[in-house]
Amino acid sequence: MSTVDELRTVAGLYRARLRLGASVAVGDPVARVLHMPRGADGYANYEKIRARGDLVRGRSGLCMTASYAVCNEVLRSDRFFAAPTSAVRLKLTPPSWQRSDVLVHPLDDSFASANPPEHTALRRIVAPFFSPQLMRARHAYIEKVVAEQLDRLDRDEPVDLIDEFAIQVPSKVICEILGLPESDHPLFVRWGIEFGATVDGARSASERRRTQVLLAELTDYFDAVVADRQRRPGEDLISKLATAVAEGAMTRIGLLATCQALLIGGFVTTANIIGNAVVALSENPEQREAFASDLDLTNQVVEEVLRLQAPAQYSVRVAREPTRLAGQDLRKGTPVVTLLAAANRDPEVFTDPERFDIDRANARDHLSFAAGPHYCIGAGLARLEGQIALRALLERFPRIRVAGPVRYCPSRVIRGPEHVLVHCR
Ligand code: HEM
Repeated sequence: MSTVDELRTVAGLYRARLRLGASVAVGDPVARVLHMPRGADGYANYEKIRARGDLVRGRSGLCMTASYAVCNEVLRSDRFFAAPTSAVRLKLTPPSWQRSDVLVHPLDDSFASANPPEHTALRRIVAPFFSPQLMRARHAYIEKVVAEQLDRLDRDEPVDLIDEFAIQVPSKVICEILGLPESDHPLFVRWGIEFGATVDGARSASERRRTQVLLAELTDYFDAVVADRQRRPGEDLISKLATAVAEGAMTRIGLLATCQALLIGGFVTTANIIGNAVVALSENPEQREAFASDLDLTNQVVEEVLRLQAPAQYSVRVAREPTRLAGQDLRKGTPVVTLLAAANRDPEVFTDPERFDIDRANARDHLSFAAGPHYCIGAGLARLEGQIALRALLERFPRIRVAGPVRYCPSRVIRGPEHVLVHCR
């Protein structure tokens, strides 16, 4: 990319940020959601969208919905497609120090942004590794990891639930599935946090640079891993995907991006089930007691916490053609933000939606794993990990409670504690 192009891109970012700021100043509720400080609680802003109607158009032309029915329709309909969100728009290129010759983005370059028939074919390669049978076979391994991590919480003084437990469990499990060394765990945690902070796109030159560094590190890492698996194939998922590349069923870029998506998607959001659940149970001690005295409620606790605090707050689709949605005409190419977190609190679907209620009969109807063709491929694994972890946690520490302020992940998309001290005993 030439220096002139580079300057144009950075200038474009600043212009976009100024426009967004100006829209917030004149009360545009869509801009307000997109402009929230990272890590802020967005639910009050989502309610302002709901109050304006089922589909709200911002000054930029981008549409946003807090309605369960409209989110569900957009996610399932072939009138809307998934599109790359950040790296393409930012025109990022490999920095001079990057070893690999391409810069790969976990969402933009994987099947997460692909559409049928390509999406269907790619998803078919990965889906068997997350089948219910294979997930059941991982049950004992997850229990083992959970038991080891629980020991680290068994202290008299407050302990960080996220560092010592919530991040560790899913990170170790996805490392095992991908055949990655546990010793690289601190690297993955750093990437996970960075990803959350940059996933909704850069707003300045420094944020653009952060995204570029993150992607370069991720790309180099998996480039080396893949080269190693090609030399010495094993039984792990990456070795199998490398075979798909050799057979022409997947590109090298697609493979690198899929590895990144599975690593980051595999632990960042899942850790939030555990973190968000402990916060909710701590705020609702009577429900914590009910759960501690009947640990078979663990499935319901997981579904209700996913409903109340969606770990991925929203996703985006684009209109494939001129179309009507929620009584409005949309032009081809109109982006629609589906606020999954707000859909989960739609009073048309969930009674008393702000309340954390582990007895809620329809909690599992939430949209936290999205819906339609891009429905989360790791949903079964995430549920299983959440169920096993929370059951064991409450069995060992029935009075677990938050011991200080909760610091949330610095992200507008990922919602969950980055750090929270808890008293376990
Ligand atoms: C609580 C845990 C999780 C949540 C809330 C979550 C959320 C989501 C959501 C909302 C989507 C759809 C995005 C869209 O429609 O644009 C998605 C897709 C995806 N998730 Fe998850 N996820 C979780 C766990 C996992 C795990 C454990 C893995 C991998 C092991 C994973 C891998 C993926 C992948 C690869 C996709 C893309 C699927 C496709 O486009 O066909 N996720 N996830």
